[in-house]
Amino acid sequence: MTATVIDGKAFAALVREKVAGHVARLKDEHGITPGLAVVLVGEDPASQVYVRSKGKQTVEVGMNSYEHKLDADTSEADLLALIDQLNKDPAVHGILVQLPLPKHLDEDLVINSIDPAKDVDGFHISNVGLLGTGQKSMVPCTPLGCLMMLRDHHGSLSGMDAVVIGRSNIVGKPMAQLLLGDSCTVTIAHSRTKDLAEVVRRADIVVAAVGRPEMVPGDWIKPGATVIDVGINRIDKPEGGTRLVGDCHYDSCAAVAGAITPVPGGVGPMTIACLLANTVTAACRANSLTEPEGLTA
Ligand code: GUN
Repeated sequence: MTATVIDGKAFAALVREKVAGHVARLKDEHGITPGLAVVLVGEDPASQVYVRSKGKQTVEVGMNSYEHKLDADTSEADLLALIDQLNKDPAVHGILVQLPLPKHLDEDLVINSIDPAKDVDGFHISNVGLLGTGQKSMVPCTPLGCLMMLRDHHGSLSGMDAVVIGRSNIVGKPMAQLLLGDSCTVTIAHSRTKDLAEVVRRADIVVAAVGRPEMVPGDWIKPGATVIDVGINRIDKPEGGTRLVGDCHYDSCAAVAGAITPVPGGVGPMTIACLLANTVTAACRANSLTEPEGLTA
């Protein structure tokens, strides 16, 4: 079997188009322009690239983008004061504090100081609890993007066996909650899982989010399974230079799977698209307006 390639780049473009439509409706019918504030502390090069890309795409769908770039030695009190100001600002519907933060800042404290209704990352403890109890919440962007692609490919996920490899708060745990919410039988595997190959072989859906290049080989994949590869790892090429690979060994997995997301061009582009979707959802909720269909869990 040769797997169907799930094109995250094209899917993300569709999500952005939908978001832009809802933004236009909010502006025309209600005089509301959704606004997203992104806070970057320090000069981590990868974070700078992400933040630039987020700002650019926010403006492209017609929303307001507010960027706050703070020095690496910013005090916790100053950062909390900025978040308090953004929490109170009615023009700001979504707040994202780019992670990781410099070591002297308490990440949990900072994230939990964001108004949960504006927490477009879905990292606030209230949103984690709401998601875990099946209530309406803000949903972390990367798992939301994976869920959208899975629903689009399969229709219903009910009764499917899903294995999530990785137990991070950003991807693994919320991904498992979302799959459970869609009535999958969910296993969370991780670095201490015994006989990982056997666990993965049972799965109709494999979500790999461990950050280890090409860790999952094709002979772990059940024929016809769907493979969602969240990993983005840069490795050296034998002939010199580098290339991006996922957590799954693409060629061998694609030879067995029914469907697979490539790296790059799979899950990656969906993350920012879902951030924009969460911002428009937050703007609708803040104004007691009907929220867009198909852009939330
Ligand atoms: N750093 C890497 N990924 C993310 C993300 O999804 N949200 C935030 N806030 N920081 C990140």
